Formats: sequence, structure tokens, C-alpha cells
Amino acid sequence: MQQQPSYKWYSSCKRTIQEMMWESVATTVERQLPKLVECAKERRKPLGTLTLDPELKIPTYQTVVDTHCMPGGYNGEYTQDDVAAGAIYDLGVHIAMRNPESLRDVRGKTVIHKFLKQQYPNFQPRKILDMGCTVGANTLPYVDAYPNAEVYGIDLAPAILRYAHARAESLGKRVHFSQQNAENTNFPDESFDLVVSHIFLHEIPVPAIRNVFRESYRLLAPGGIMIHQDAPLYRDLDLFTAFLYDEETTNNNEPFWSAMRDLDLVAVAQEAGFSRDNLIETLLEQNNGRQSFIIVGI
Ligand SMILES: C[S@@+](CC[C@H](N)C(=O)[O-])C[C@H]1O[C@@H](n2cnc3c(N)ncnc32)[C@H](O)[C@@H]1O
Repeated sequence: MQQQPSYKWYSSCKRTIQEMMWESVATTVERQLPKLVECAKERRKPLGTLTLDPELKIPTYQTVVDTHCMPGGYNGEYTQDDVAAGAIYDLGVHIAMRNPESLRDVRGKTVIHKFLKQQYPNFQPRKILDMGCTVGANTLPYVDAYPNAEVYGIDLAPAILRYAHARAESLGKRVHFSQQNAENTNFPDESFDLVVSHIFLHEIPVPAIRNVFRESYRLLAPGGIMIHQDAPLYRDLDLFTAFLYDEETTNNNEPFWSAMRDLDLVAVAQEAGFSRDNLIETLLEQNNGRQSFIIVGI
């Protein structure tokens, strides 16, 4: 395939579109950055909280590449109280999803309405954790779906989290954001009834995925549920689609994308402590016509 002129043309166009998209987004954010920083600081009586940890060691796997070619990556900081990485990500996803009406929350809504509310209609989590939450787009549907729950979002990247906090506040949603490594958080054992992530696993290496599953298991209270969502695994795709998916690894700075899609996540979850009988893997139909893969541990 890689020798085919038609594939070379497709691949070159795809990479160029990605670079052009980020360039237009980064230029827009750069022009507005002082105003964005001021807006993000303005909350006088916040609903939720933001806790940053300047001492947190950012794993090398998050700093060696600018993931999916996003300029500066997630962890870039350029000015005091910076929110640029969050604004760049939010605007980039907005363009990539091609739906101007959307709050970019289709994945969270799919997990909630196409799985949790159907399979566990009486489940009323008191505390919910979203790992690798980025700007909190898929964290916020949990605030609406479970209004009595305390909702937490963690991520490594400070500028992303400042933006996430300001975004949630401006949308009137109470979320507690903190800068933490999902492999090893500071929450006590059995802190959460629901631990989720959305399109997070494919951005971390396999040893980190194992740690994230162990941490999810440690954090779950009795009767709690873990759900990690991502795009479908290779075994659920035809060979041609799988080949096109690999483009993410080879040409879009997603070094862990292909490895994650080949992983036996049920085995990883069992190693983390879940029993085989309490693990479910399934595909869900998103409202935008795409499919979501989820692994659920109880
Ligand atoms: C593709 S984004 C996730 C998108 C987000 N969940 C959503 O639904 O919009 C991956 C995120 O994971 C974060 N991340 C990567 N490694 C992490 C780790 N070890 N602990 C916490 N966050 C991490 C990155 O900073 C980035 O914001």
C-alpha cells in the first residue's frame, strides 16, 4: 500500500490538512491569548476547583512528541497563567468534529446514555473521576447525568486544566480539576463509584495503560464501575480500515495508537485485579455515526 501513488497522495493530503488545521488554530489562539488568559482568571465565586501541582513530574512519553501534531503538545506553557494549549485543543477538536453546534461531548454522552443508563439504570455514583480529561469536554455530561455526584477531572497539563476549569465554569458546571498522573493519583483507595476515560488510552504507552488500570481498580469503591472508552480495536476492523488507522502512528505523531489497538485489555484488567466475570468489552454507536469501544470493569 505504501508504494501506491493513490495512497501516497491520500497520506500526504491528510498530513497537510492536519498541519494547516493546527496552524490556523494556533494563530487564532495566539492573537487572542492575553484576552483568553484574563477571561480564564475572572471567576469570582467558582462552582468547582482547580488544583495545579508545579512539582508534578510529566512523563517523558508526553513531552517527546507534539501529540497528533498539536503545536507545543499538551504540556507547552508560554506565559503566566497560560491557557493556550487548552484553547488550541478545544478549537482544533471543534474543527475536526465538523459540528459547530457541538460541545465536543459525544463520547461521554455515548458512555452514559448508550451504556450506563441502559445497563445500570439504578446506578447513582456519588463520586466520579475522569482520567486524562483534557479540557473536560467529555467530563461535563456526567455533571448533567448525575447531578448529585461530585465530578473530578485529572490531567497532566497545566494550561489545559486552567482552560478546562474556565470552560466548565462558563458553562455553569461544577467539576474539581487537578493536575495529576492517572498512573498514580493522590486520591485514597476506594474514592470513586465511577472511574472513566475517553480517547485517553491510545495516547499512553502499554506500561502506563497497565498502571492506569491498576489505579482505576484501587480507586473504585465496592460496587463501583470503571469504563475506558476509545476508538475500536484492530480486531473489530477490516484490514483496510486498520491499515488506515495505522496512519495515526506513522504520520500523525500518535506513537502509542497502534500498540494500544492490538492490546488484550481484558488481560490487562485482570492483571490489575478485576475478575474475568466482571469485565465487558463492547462497541457502542455514537450519535455522529462513528463507533466507540469500551472496556468496563465492575
Ligand atoms: C486525547 S486527550 C483525552 C481527551 C479527553 N479525554 C476528551 O474526552 O476530550 C489525552 C489527554 O491525556 C492526558 N494525559 C496523558 N498522559 C496522562 C497521564 N499519565 N495522566 C493524566 N493525564 C494524562 C494528556 O495531557 C491529554 O490531555
